[in-house]
Amino acid sequence: MAIEFLGHKNNLLDFIFGVIEKENIPTDGSFIDLFSGTGCVSAAAMKVGFEVKANDMLGMCNRFAEAALLNKETPNFKSVLPEITGNSNTACESSPFELVIEYLNALPPTEGYIWSNYSPASLHKTEHERMYFTESNAGKIDAIREKIKSWKYSLTKAEESLLIVSLMKAANRVANTAGTYGCYLKKWKKRALNQLKLETIEVVTSDKEHQTYNEDANELIKKISGTVVYADPPYTKRQYAAYYHILETIALGDEPNITGSTGLRSWQDLSSDYCYKRKAPDALRDLLSEAKCDHFLLSYNEDGQIPHEIILEILSKYGSVTTHEKSYKRYKSSSISHKGNTLVERLYHLKMNKN
Ligand SMILES: C[S@@+](CC[C@H](N)C(=O)[O-])C[C@H]1O[C@@H](n2cnc3c(N)ncnc32)[C@H](O)[C@@H]1O
Repeated sequence: MAIEFLGHKNNLLDFIFGVIEKENIPTDGSFIDLFSGTGCVSAAAMKVGFEVKANDMLGMCNRFAEAALLNKETPNFKSVLPEITGNSNTACESSPFELVIEYLNALPPTEGYIWSNYSPASLHKTEHERMYFTESNAGKIDAIREKIKSWKYSLTKAEESLLIVSLMKAANRVANTAGTYGCYLKKWKKRALNQLKLETIEVVTSDKEHQTYNEDANELIKKISGTVVYADPPYTKRQYAAYYHILETIALGDEPNITGSTGLRSWQDLSSDYCYKRKAPDALRDLLSEAKCDHFLLSYNEDGQIPHEIILEILSKYGSVTTHEKSYKRYKSSSISHKGNTLVERLYHLKMNKN
């Protein structure tokens, strides 16, 4: 996984799906991943047989979910291949996905939005010399994003998202940051000087009717139901919309007004109640009061905004609760101070009372 995403569960999948097995939760029903982030839990749920509904209020996360869940067949990029191969019928060893990636990698950089705002070229129009990307890599991001945009009506949703996710991951590999986009480094780090290069990403096909949503989880929960609801809300004060603002802009392909030395897009509309100590317990209470499922799973961290005892109090109102624990290594970003190296991650299983 090329995105160092705060709170991702990529290293905890065995733990989560081990609990699902241990608790005899059937895997042939539906699985609602309400805060899907990188989509790794959704992808794993799909692999074990669930029909998945993945939701996240960030557009970038919605793209991750689409790329993971919506491939009904191996992507063939049928309607853009003629532009790429020049209508040549010559037999070729590469897959269509590889051909498209190769084509995008060869595009010359352009002086677009990312170049003019997030590379040192920003000094031409502001007082800030933003060093998120070198000029050459920022220009490449612009050229590739524009090309994908021009294909919008030719690509399937899954194909478009595969390319956008591939671009976000490539951008992240050369970002001159300490992990998130809250700030850039004042000196180029080695990886930032590499040339941006898209790579293909894993494609898992599935003929089930998986669905993706891009909403506030507390609103979505009122409208859907399933066998399992899995909730992995933020557990710290760090707002994802602010910490990943540039990836969000790449995902949306828009050109927002930005402010300050870090070039932050407006993120307040996407601020999460789960990030505030004062609001988080009520947000969880509200979520539970609307959940329509047989099993409610909550991932939460001992370091989180809501204390363990309060979580137990909220959940146990709706059925019987078991708590599973796992120690794991803390996510490290040098921009964030740390207390220790290991943390306890909890997975609460609430078996809902039947009404
Ligand atoms: C801890 S991360 C989820 C990580 C994910 N399980 C993974 O493994 O990558 C929390 C996610 O919740 C999203 N989020 C925060 N508040 C939300 C809300 N009210 N509704 C929907 N998504 C929300 C954030 O954008 C972020 O992607």
